[in-house]
Amino acid sequence: MTGSPQYHLERVRKVFGRGQVALEGFDLQVAEGERVALIGPSGAGKTTLFRMLNCTIRPTAGRLSIGGQEVAELYGRRLREMRRRIGTIYQQHNLVPRLRVVHNVLSGRLGSWSLLGSLASLARPAGLETAHRALTDVGIGEKLFSRTDELSGGQQQRVAIARVLMQDPDVILADEPVSSVDPSLAETIIKLLLAISDHTGKTLLVNLHSTDLALSYFPRVIGMKAGVKLFDTAAAQVTPELLQELYSGHVPENGAGEPSREPEPRRIAV
Ligand SMILES: Nc1ncnc2c1ncn2[C@@H]1O[C@H](COP(=O)(O)OP(=O)(O)OP(=O)(O)O)[C@@H](O)[C@H]1O
Ligand SMILES: [Mg+2]
Repeated sequence: MTGSPQYHLERVRKVFGRGQVALEGFDLQVAEGERVALIGPSGAGKTTLFRMLNCTIRPTAGRLSIGGQEVAELYGRRLREMRRRIGTIYQQHNLVPRLRVVHNVLSGRLGSWSLLGSLASLARPAGLETAHRALTDVGIGEKLFSRTDELSGGQQQRVAIARVLMQDPDVILADEPVSSVDPSLAETIIKLLLAISDHTGKTLLVNLHSTDLALSYFPRVIGMKAGVKLFDTAAAQVTPELLQELYSGHVPENGAGEPSREPEPRRIAV
């Protein structure tokens, strides 16, 4: 991808159907190869921002350019090409459970294949070696022919990462990639994503509910709340007070609708 910064957002606004404002006055610049963590309470707009960064949705107002190209000017084939350059890993990893791992990994290439090629690959997987290499890179090379739904949650998350490696994008967006795994595995997966970004130079943006992981592993941390950016700074500059402000008034999801007067307790690793 040419042109720096890679992402350039200016006063981006996103309003959904019934007037729900999900992003407001959002400015952002991300350079190629940067590693950024986004944190913030539920409903802050993190996923909405990612869906904009991977060109699934468009801003209601404001400017979004990727690699020097204005996304508002991209349609059809050029929009699909841009989407192919951005790989997304979702919390629910969006794998097809009943397919073998190899097919899920190979589906990372679907964006660049014809329909016939894709169907043919279901019968006889093309790019087997590349898929095996991607799985080996994420530490589960031996699972190539396992059924996806027979893997553990953590292994499935690795398959989702291997699928993105197969896609070979310029940017990896990981939306809460570790919220369904235990803390030690969460750390391993974050380290794996960082190592991939390090070795390949791919830009990495990760949405995280764990402030610990964000502050411990990412050089740059963005705090979002109610659709606006509260801070965008080096991890070392994120103070307990900033975190308190970020999460104040936030009702934890497991609070079963019981509004809490106390801010959600957070362990802070600074
Ligand atoms: N498709 C949609 N239609 C209407 N409103 C939406 C839509 N997607 C998101 N929103 C609203 O936009 C706001 C931001 O949602 P978003 O999913 O981006 O938050 P988030 O920070 O990712 O939250 P979480 O941490 O829970 O994943 C929320 O108020 C949400 O209800
Ligand atoms: Mg979200």
